[in-house]
Amino acid sequence: MSHNDSRTALIVVSHHRADSLTAHIARRTATQLEDAGYAVDLLDLTAEGFDPRMNTADQPDWNDRDKTYSPEVEDHMRRILAADLIIPVFPIYWGYAPALLKGWVDRVWNYGFAYGRSKPKLAGKRMLWLGLAGATADDMIIPAIQTMLDTQLSGAIAYYCGVSDSRTVVLPDAEERPQRLDAEGKLEIGDAVQGAARDAHFADFERKAAEHVSDFLAADRVPA
Ligand SMILES: Cc1cc2nc3c(=O)[nH]c(=O)nc-3n(C[C@H](O)[C@H](O)[C@H](O)COP(=O)(O)O)c2cc1C
Repeated sequence: MSHNDSRTALIVVSHHRADSLTAHIARRTATQLEDAGYAVDLLDLTAEGFDPRMNTADQPDWNDRDKTYSPEVEDHMRRILAADLIIPVFPIYWGYAPALLKGWVDRVWNYGFAYGRSKPKLAGKRMLWLGLAGATADDMIIPAIQTMLDTQLSGAIAYYCGVSDSRTVVLPDAEERPQRLDAEGKLEIGDAVQGAARDAHFADFERKAAEHVSDFLAADRVPA
């Protein structure tokens, strides 16, 4: 029996199109995790009609740490608690997570649930934030985006909520037209890759994404 038996991974897909590269990578990641023995809960925020806007039902009496949130948010909380691994997969928008994913955190990762307890409920969980970037790997914006995601997602969110093992991955080259900033800060957009070159481009992209997921799984500490 492998140590992975009965472990659960929550994959949070944050994209408005089912035919996006983001959704495609999320589905492949789900298969990869299932092959590694995980039970996968695939949460597609758009397909499930998640509204990322904060509302009064999800901001009840601040002082009560045990307050009840909206049924929808309570359901998301149960899914988070049931997961050993939480893997948001998302397109990078303006160097950050899209509003859809940010709103999921805003509405669901609440006081008393995700933070504000001497014993964090989310402690012991592991997170892998998989962000797809349109910029090419050699674009100087990529290391800056990596730093921003580390600070904002692993730092301000995961660490704040007791998730000590959180890592962020930036996957560049998500577009078929190469786009990079030149030395003057002007955006250059190249010709779309086609035919066999296109297949190779996306096969390489998929391989890199899968390698990051494998590295993340391999780094799991097996309890003694
Ligand atoms: C509103 C918006 C903002 C974007 N901001 C960035 C960015 O800051 N850096 C970057 O590399 N790509 C950026 N992109 C490109 C997306 O990351 C890219 O199109 C996406 O990852 C491609 O995958 P998809 O087919 O899943 O959308 C942006 C795209 C949109 C629509």
